[in-house]
Amino acid sequence: MLHVTSTETTQADKITLSVEAPLDRLRNRITGGRPWIRTHELARIAVQMLSGTLFRLRLKRGPVFLAYHPDSHAVFRQHPEFSGLFQSFTAANALNNGGDMMRLWSFTLNLKQVLSENVPGDFAELGVWRGNTASVLAHYAATNGRKMFLFDTFTGFDAADLKGIDASKTKRFANTSLEMVKETLGQNVNVCEFVQGYFPEAVTQQAREASYAVVSLDCDLYEPTKAGLAFFYERMPTGGLFLLHDYSSMFWNGPRAAIDEFCAQSGERLILMPDKSGSAFFRKSK
Ligand SMILES: C[S@@+](CC[C@H](N)C(=O)[O-])C[C@H]1O[C@@H](n2cnc3c(N)ncnc32)[C@H](O)[C@@H]1O
Repeated sequence: MLHVTSTETTQADKITLSVEAPLDRLRNRITGGRPWIRTHELARIAVQMLSGTLFRLRLKRGPVFLAYHPDSHAVFRQHPEFSGLFQSFTAANALNNGGDMMRLWSFTLNLKQVLSENVPGDFAELGVWRGNTASVLAHYAATNGRKMFLFDTFTGFDAADLKGIDASKTKRFANTSLEMVKETLGQNVNVCEFVQGYFPEAVTQQAREASYAVVSLDCDLYEPTKAGLAFFYERMPTGGLFLLHDYSSMFWNGPRAAIDEFCAQSGERLILMPDKSGSAFFRKSK
């Protein structure tokens, strides 16, 4: 093999050296000279230094703020399904869900925790609308051999529920259809059971006989939230998970009233999420 040695420094070498020297100094400052640090680790630290500075420049003002993805995703790549879930979570509802990364992450991490503990049972959502949240649950149901039940009128609120604490609310969420929901669910529609109609009257025998490991309640009103807590709680094993949307949103007072009453009776305690609409969670304790 021919070896060429030269003491001459070319123009290209000079440019490389002039860029590398400060980069080396920066790398040493960040890493303290530790040899194990890898390039992606360095890039991550640089991104965090930049975004940390942006946070301090008050981009946190107003209804929007920047946030990191969990290290388990950004560094350790433990959730490769996340970007697909983000697509279905925001399909036909980018306006509300596009910026609600907190909700999607808290669903994802807690659903996976329940699955890792082998809590038995199917998944369900009461209050599906266009199927954005249901698509997240359906993904984990499909990949873990569970069924996913979707409960909704699929024609919006029922006038029978617009009374008492919800008397001032008007009919909403009629702008959906089973076809739209199926499109959001994609191929995971295979594990889905649709229970269409007014809850709880429309409940099928199959849904009555099921047990539920994870239940999302998102029907915005007092009556169906109260009925949903009663129905699913007695069909849930210890360790099952309730995802309770809108608990502290302040737009919808009905769910909070129903959930507070339920917790006072059952002794269950809530964990509050810092997502857009103030979700609350609990894991069935007994
Ligand atoms: C806020 S939307 C659900 C949003 C949905 N979870 C998502 O991820 O976008 C509320 C839904 O609750 C449904 N709903 C409310 N009361 C109901 C009842 N008594 N029976 C069946 N569905 C009901 C409405 O039809 C509506 O689709």
